Amino acid sequence: MLRNSDKSYGWISIIVHWLMAIVILFVFGLGLYMVELTYYDAWYKGSLELHKSLGMALFILLVFRMFWRVINSKPAELAGPKWQKISAGLMHRGLYFVMLLLLVSGYLISTADGAAIVVFDLFNAPALPWNVENQEDIAGEIHEVLSWLLVTMVTVHALAALKHHFINKDSGLTRILKVDTVD
Ligand code: HEM
Ligand code: HEM
Repeated sequence: MLRNSDKSYGWISIIVHWLMAIVILFVFGLGLYMVELTYYDAWYKGSLELHKSLGMALFILLVFRMFWRVINSKPAELAGPKWQKISAGLMHRGLYFVMLLLLVSGYLISTADGAAIVVFDLFNAPALPWNVENQEDIAGEIHEVLSWLLVTMVTVHALAALKHHFINKDSGLTRILKVDTVD
């Protein structure tokens, strides 16, 4: 039930998938909103702090998720042409890769001045002992591009899931919504 099986994802993968999906989309909207605020807006500081704290929480979840994926089996490939199986695999790996780079670039913007990130007033994520020239600007550019890339990839990924559900009528979407234990 907790682990993945041949037929479906287990509860741990399901919960982490949807929790991260909701938080990522929220953090994306928050990012676009907060960069339009000025120093005189009441939520100028708070919105950035929330963005950074949620981002670091996503970081922890992603590390756990990658570890969980490595020690787990994957549900069987869905029926379909070979290119579709290959592109689904590439998309999943790509999503992990872009999530990781996005989180690292966010961390590098926020720690460019050598200060630690305060995560929900619970703990500090320390800065690296070194930094590069213009780190804040370079990481900021990369962060912006990657956030749009991730949202574009997620859109394609979600459309593919809906296509499996409504057109192919297979278990592609339901197996990440609930655990299938029927033999
Ligand atoms: C899935 C995770 C994340 C998403 C989707 C995301 C998304 C965004 C977006 C859309 C922006 C606005 C970019 C712009 O229009 O200039 C932004 C800015 C920013 N993000 Fe993130 N972010 C994430 C994680 C993080 C993390 C982990 C940190 C740091 C701990 C972080 C720190 C920042 C900072 C400091 C800015 C402001 C940059 C500026 O002032 O130009 N983000 N983020
Ligand atoms: C930020 C949003 C999202 C991210 C980053 C994301 C990422 C991922 C990743 C990395 C996997 C592969 C799981 C693994 O093998 O460990 C996956 C699976 C899946 N996701 Fe998402 N996802 C997001 C949103 C969505 C949405 C909105 C939908 C549907 C409307 C969706 C549907 C699915 C389905 C159906 C699978 C299982 C595919 C299969 O059975 O092979 N995801 N997702």
